Amino acid sequence: MTCRVSDLTSNDLDALTGLIMDDGGYSMRVFGRPPKSDAARDVLHTRPPGLDLESKTTIGLWDDNRLIGVADAVRGYPRPEVMYVGLLQVETDSQGGGVGRMLHEALVDRAMNDPGITTLQLSIVATNAEAAEGF
Ligand SMILES: CC(C)(COP(=O)(O)OP(=O)(O)OC[C@H]1O[C@@H](n2cnc3c(N)ncnc32)[C@H](O)[C@@H]1OP(=O)(O)O)[C@@H](O)C(=O)NCCC(=O)NCCS
Repeated sequence: MTCRVSDLTSNDLDALTGLIMDDGGYSMRVFGRPPKSDAARDVLHTRPPGLDLESKTTIGLWDDNRLIGVADAVRGYPRPEVMYVGLLQVETDSQGGGVGRMLHEALVDRAMNDPGITTLQLSIVATNAEAAEGF
């Protein structure tokens, strides 16, 4: 597999939508409903009140031209020195093959290169714990 990592932008909306729709039940487990059709736009733009768009980091992992994973984080939440991970999702066919690890490494790299960040934090939703906690 030849993988590359890039920052996702509005130009990647279709690819991100495709990935989010192929979630293997993640949205049902976390939100109790299938993914929304505009979920990709939310991932790229939604952030806590008071933080600007610059605080967002949305990393995509590509296998050639196919988006197979996404990691989304916001810098400065819930405290200034924290980078908080929102969505972390790997396409179902690629799970268990190290893609999540690569995305995690890319996030750690971003955090380490940001002088204001000392901590990477995420939460696991209890109803998704069986799928996420081991990772
Ligand atoms: C959770 C998720 C991001 C992990 O990505 P992945 O590509 O499948 O994970 P990797 O193959 O990179 O695994 C990395 C390590 O985590 C471990 N791991 C991954 N899922 C695991 C699980 N369910 N139980 C135990 N260990 C697990 C792997 O064994 C591996 O460890 P190792 O290298 O020491 O063997 C992915 O399965 C996913 O998208 N799940 C659905 C969405 C989701 O639940 N996201 C929330 C994440 S907090």
